[in-house]
Amino acid sequence: MQHAIRTKFTELYKQQPQLFRSPGRVNLIGEHTDYNNGFVLPAAINKEIVFAIALNNTQTINLYSLDMQEQASFELQSIEPSDIGWANYLLGVVAQFQKANYKIGGFDLVFGGNIPIGAGLSSSAAVECGLAFALNELHGFGLNRMILAEMAQKAEHEFAGVRCGIMDQFASLFGKDGHAVKLDCRSLEYEYFPFDMSHYRIVLCDSQVKHSLASSEYNTRRQECETGVAILQKHYPKVGSLRDATIEMLEKHQPEFDPVVYKRCSFIVQENNRVLDACKALQENDLVFFGQKMYASHAGLQHDYEVSCPELDFLVEQAKQQSSVLGARMMGGGFGGCTINIVSINAVDDFVAAMSAAYEQQFKIQLPTYIAEIVDGSSEF
Ligand code: GLA
Repeated sequence: MQHAIRTKFTELYKQQPQLFRSPGRVNLIGEHTDYNNGFVLPAAINKEIVFAIALNNTQTINLYSLDMQEQASFELQSIEPSDIGWANYLLGVVAQFQKANYKIGGFDLVFGGNIPIGAGLSSSAAVECGLAFALNELHGFGLNRMILAEMAQKAEHEFAGVRCGIMDQFASLFGKDGHAVKLDCRSLEYEYFPFDMSHYRIVLCDSQVKHSLASSEYNTRRQECETGVAILQKHYPKVGSLRDATIEMLEKHQPEFDPVVYKRCSFIVQENNRVLDACKALQENDLVFFGQKMYASHAGLQHDYEVSCPELDFLVEQAKQQSSVLGARMMGGGFGGCTINIVSINAVDDFVAAMSAAYEQQFKIQLPTYIAEIVDGSSEF
């Protein structure tokens, strides 16, 4: 991929680029907790976006998407959301530097990658983070990775219209080979946990359902959580987010809640607890317990948070029937994308064959599967 991107770059722009990469992510557990100031446990994976980039001493940015085989140019003095979907993730990042008064020079760019789009593996965050990382390096701004993650997150809010949390951008920039990383989304403190892959593999099953519903429903979920916080705040002024809430608080005031809002809030409180339990399990190398937490997470996402879909539920049910699988659940925003499965290393082939056959029979859809390896976050090649 690097080669194709470099070749395209020199062909288009007749100069030599610098090459950068930024990965997609899995999330082991802790879904929809990030924008509730809670805990998440993602890891960067070996599906990534590669960038060839160089400054061009003009006031123009020239962008080329290798995957779409499409080019677009924009003037730096008038960066705003464009009709070209893929360009918005890049323009959004440029706009964040400009807003923070970092002077961006014109540049030439070719990018492409192997993160399946709409599969819940955060291809958009990888694009945003890769460009933020590259621009920071090219201009020598010296911004740290957390600031870059926050800029990339704002790019998603303002240019893609999704009020996402920080998890995906954090994971792309802070990933570490062989480790999952627990992030406290309130304090932004993080801790790496070795994820022992000697006996297990992370296998992703791509439902092929594109999560087009996701952005509007996502924003609705956020709203529902905020409604819940407002109710609790009347009684507990210190509750600034669902991170500060407990099951006892919710139960005590249940009659004041709309039933849907109640379900959403209780899911978030439980999911936060599950991340803490899961991290403890990792420390004790108890992947069996870890897997049970994943199944419980899925059940909550399916019934209480209601962000799953029949295809994802089917995949998790099928996984549950196999003794080689420790845990499985839907991953990311929901309404499609991948399930994540922890599968015994010597049963991976059988697992993939059984899942593909079952899925094809049920939905007449071929099931792509990916074995995810955990890699480092954004870097220059
Ligand atoms: C999407 C968002 C993340 C996070 C997940 C759900 O991936 O971008 O910020 O909220 O959904 O956990």
